[in-house]
Amino acid sequence: MNWQQIDECARAWLKEAGARIRETFAQQLTIQTKSNRKDLVTNVDKETEQFFIAHIKNKFPQHRVLGEEGFGDDIGALDGTVWIIDPIDGTMNFIHQQRNFAISIGIFHNGVGQLGYIYDVVHDELYSAQKGKGAFLNDSPLPRLQPVSISEAIISLNTTWVIDNARIDPSILTPLVKAVRGTRSYGSAALEMAYVAAGRLDAYMTMRLSPWDFAGGLIIVEEVGGVVTNIYGEPLQLLEQNSVLVAKPGLHKQIVKQYIRK
Ligand code: IPD
Ligand code: CA
Ligand code: CA
Ligand code: CA
Repeated sequence: MNWQQIDECARAWLKEAGARIRETFAQQLTIQTKSNRKDLVTNVDKETEQFFIAHIKNKFPQHRVLGEEGFGDDIGALDGTVWIIDPIDGTMNFIHQQRNFAISIGIFHNGVGQLGYIYDVVHDELYSAQKGKGAFLNDSPLPRLQPVSISEAIISLNTTWVIDNARIDPSILTPLVKAVRGTRSYGSAALEMAYVAAGRLDAYMTMRLSPWDFAGGLIIVEEVGGVVTNIYGEPLQLLEQNSVLVAKPGLHKQIVKQYIRK
C-alpha cells in the first residue's frame, strides 16, 4: 500500500475542503435536525462528505468510506482500506460560532489505523499522524505526552453527563471534577482529542461517540503515547458507539482505577 500517496491526497483534499467551508461563512446555510432538536446537519456537512467520497472513489476505487452523513458505503467489517470520515465534527459550533469545529478522517487497513487527520479549518491547523511515524501539528512534530498529576490536569468533558442521564451516575464524575485543576467543554470530540495530542488538554472523556467522531483522533493520540479506550479502560470497538476516555498514560490509568466504577 502506498501510504505516502494516500497521505498526499488526503492532505490536498483536506485543504481544499477547508477552503470551501470557509467560503460558506458568507452564505446562508440550510440547517436540518436529525434525531432531535440538538442534532443538527447542514448542506455544508453533506457537501463536504460528498466532496471526499467523490475524490476517494475516483483516485482509490478499491477503498471504502464510512461517513457520518451516510453517503459512503455500508460497512459491516473493516477489511481492506476504509476511510472513516466526519465531514464537520462540531456542527453546532459551525452553525452558531463559525469556529471550534474540524474535519476528521481516520484511514484503516484491515482494522489497523494507518493515517489520522483532524483539520481545524478556521485556524488552518492540521493535526496528522501516520502509524509508527509520529504525529504533527502542521509541519511541527508533536512531542510525546509527559505524565501529569491529577491535581494539575485540565480535562475536557461533555457536561451532558453531569446531569441525570441513562449512561452514567453523575455522582461518579463529581469527585473527578473536584480533583482536577480545571474542566473544559469544546463541543467537538475530534478537536478535544487533537488538544490532548497537542498537550493543550490532559484528558477528554465522554459517554457516547460514533466511529467518525474518534477515528482520526485515535490514530493521532496513540502516536504521541496517549491512551484511548472506553471509560472502563477497554479497547474501542471501531464500528460501534463507545464511551471514550483519552488521556496521558498515567492519568488515564488513575482515572479508570480511582474514579470510574463499573
Ligand atoms: C458531535 C461532537 C460533540 C459530541 C457529540 C458528537 P457532530 O459531533 O463531536 O462534541 O459531544 O457526541 O456527535 O455531530 O458535531 O459531528
Ligand atoms: Ca452530527
Ligand atoms: Ca462528530
Ligand atoms: Ca459531523
